[in-house]
Amino acid sequence: MSSAPLKNVSVGWLLFIVVWAVPASAADEQPGNPQRGAEVYRRYCVTCHGDRGDGIGEFAPYTTPKPRDFRQGTFKWRSTPSGSLPLVSDLERTIRDGIYWTAMPSFFPLRERARRDVIAYIQTFSPRWTSDQPGAALQIAPEPAHTPVSVANGRAVYEKQNCAQCHGDRGAGDGQAAKTLTDDWGNPTVPFDLTKGHMKGGTTGADLYRVFMTGLNGTPMPSFVESIAPDEAWDLVHYIQSLATPRRSARVLPQEKKP
Ligand code: HEC
Ligand code: HEC
Repeated sequence: MSSAPLKNVSVGWLLFIVVWAVPASAADEQPGNPQRGAEVYRRYCVTCHGDRGDGIGEFAPYTTPKPRDFRQGTFKWRSTPSGSLPLVSDLERTIRDGIYWTAMPSFFPLRERARRDVIAYIQTFSPRWTSDQPGAALQIAPEPAHTPVSVANGRAVYEKQNCAQCHGDRGAGDGQAAKTLTDDWGNPTVPFDLTKGHMKGGTTGADLYRVFMTGLNGTPMPSFVESIAPDEAWDLVHYIQSLATPRRSARVLPQEKKP
């Protein structure tokens, strides 16, 4: 009998640990809280994206491209089909990593909880988030070996799909159509210079794969998921990677570029 109180103590501790630990991990599964997200937004996002989420915050006149207007529910970097809303995980990636070459910073130091909350708040700016569901995420086949043959095959895909029309024969962003493009928000836009090496929306082969398969909504960059097969897509990734000029991969914000 003398060991009973001791047993009770350890059961008590066990209960305490379970009760304390379970809500913490379950909280990560819960959707964000828009009320708390509004505070995160006012603190970190409002200067660019604006009080009403219209993309015309105080800082907006000084940036190219402009901060996103959240009222249409149109997003460039998605794993979902062209025209679809993005998944929360897509927005999470953008907010965590930022958008390279643009004013959109990385919010890596924010806790995941805070990023989820601010996403829930951003979703209140467009009625699309209540009337519409994001489509299914693109499945990305495992990457085959990066070989000279794959790069050459990728060049053939680049030619066949006429990427050069916008991105130019050698990917420098100087195709015939390059000077005439505008985005859905009425701003002039240019095809990305693929020789820069570091894309805006990520550095991995999968990031590249996703971009040309799902397209960048709101921009002239189309989705090629209907015309490019998965193995061709990896060849094309390898070709684009071969265009990178290391010297140019250093971070230069558009505003700092010398003419
Ligand atoms: C210093 C300015 C600035 C701040 C601060 C800023 N952003 Fe952005 N953000 C931008 C710009 C510029 C773009 C557009 C980039 C583009 O279209 O290429 C953008 C785009 C986005 C996008 C759209 C990505 C897509 O797929 O289209 C999201 C989502 C976003 N920002 C969320 C946030 C959140 C959340 C915060 C605050 C935690 C924030 N931003 C703070 C400048 C900013
Ligand atoms: C009608 C013109 C057009 C065509 C055709 C086109 N693109 Fe693009 N592409 C664009 C524009 C414009 C952007 C820049 C969008 C932005 O950042 O707002 C872009 C951006 C990109 C990016 C950069 C993504 C990032 O995260 O920075 C890649 C990679 C890309 N295109 C690959 C391709 C490939 C591969 C093809 C052919 C299969 C192709 N594009 C065809 C217009 C085009």
